[in-house]
Amino acid sequence: MRRIVAISAVLAVAASLGACGGATQPGRAVQGDGPVEVFTWWAAGSEKLGLDALVGVFDDQRPSFEFVNGAVAGGAGSAAKDLLRTRLLAGDPPDTFQAHAGAELTDYIAAGQLEDVSALYDEFGLRKVFPTDLLRLLQVNGQIYSVPAGIHRSNMVWANPAVLAAAGLDPAASYDSLGAWFGALEAVRASGRTALALGTTWTQVNLLETVLMSDLGADAYRGLWTGTTDWAGPAVGAALADFATLLGFTNADRDALDWPAATQRVIDGSAGFTVMGDWAVAAFEEQGKLEGTDFGYFPVPGTAEMFGFLADSFTLPVGAQNPAGAKAWLATVGSLEGQTAFNRAKGSIPARSDADPADFSAYQRASIEAFGRDAIVPSLAHGAAASIAVLDAISAATGQFTSGASDLATYQAALVAAATAP
Ligand code: GAL
Repeated sequence: MRRIVAISAVLAVAASLGACGGATQPGRAVQGDGPVEVFTWWAAGSEKLGLDALVGVFDDQRPSFEFVNGAVAGGAGSAAKDLLRTRLLAGDPPDTFQAHAGAELTDYIAAGQLEDVSALYDEFGLRKVFPTDLLRLLQVNGQIYSVPAGIHRSNMVWANPAVLAAAGLDPAASYDSLGAWFGALEAVRASGRTALALGTTWTQVNLLETVLMSDLGADAYRGLWTGTTDWAGPAVGAALADFATLLGFTNADRDALDWPAATQRVIDGSAGFTVMGDWAVAAFEEQGKLEGTDFGYFPVPGTAEMFGFLADSFTLPVGAQNPAGAKAWLATVGSLEGQTAFNRAKGSIPARSDADPADFSAYQRASIEAFGRDAIVPSLAHGAAASIAVLDAISAATGQFTSGASDLATYQAALVAAATAP
């Protein structure tokens, strides 16, 4: 567990905006027990099973509080984050909400929407159990504003071995570059299946970030978020051309699918591959599928030594109606029992460095090793790399391109503008 240093430059910029967490509004606080509204986008399927596992520990540890599920469906918070923004602006926050470590969290901190929970780190004994670099992503001006639940990896390919074999491919093969992978995608397409299952806009942005990682390499990819890599340059242009090539291998109905439906095509064998964060492993496992025989995985070609980093964390919003309940939830999120139960079900790896790898699946043990070994690069689609405004602008430009409303040159120009969104 180490280094997420590259992202801290982005945070330093955001930190310079200043943090201004306010006090809990008088008269609204409910002290002691009562309902605790927990706001996430883990509303269904394997994501809900992860949340359920955490709730099970919460119920055991803090039975006097009542968990209230404030989940809003839509992968990557595609609907939840908009609703959350409205509620925060209206002074009607949930008691705690899910936020990604990094730039997204810094947005909420800079807007004065989060309470400082540093004292809870002392109370719960958390300072020594989280990696220093992860703590750096969670804090501004030395104060900490959330408790991490787990760490996911964004840059994974998931494959159906039977589909690959039927296409004449070696299911155990891996590919050094996107160019080398295109031949395999072509073979799956020729076999009559979808080569690369893809979903709606945010999944397209998830694919885009992995193509940028692959074609630019870790340093230049990080430079997209620190300002040292030119979005208008030929390297980004070449990556966008590869992105366009990959789109040509995808299902035409992609805009109608969220990630579970796109991943299901690989699970069911109507598609050979999909690119998705490693919450996908939980979907395979939930359906009793076995690694090796029923599914395989490898990092997106060209990103084998990169870990596309993102971390879910939970907050204490300014004006929460039940701050004591929110603190109880945060205690469970940070506890070894909570992290073990949640991450086992969710496909992520524990943020706590004292969790026992033996409690986790083969995929997760490999992910724990990769996190300790690989270059840590921040995920765009999942809040680590860029502010919500920049992500929204990149998502809009990407939706325009993938729906055929813009060409490559227009897309690249839109990304140049998006990267500097206020
Ligand atoms: C990410 C989140 C993951 C997973 C995924 C798909 O943003 O961090 O935990 O839920 O979205 O919805």
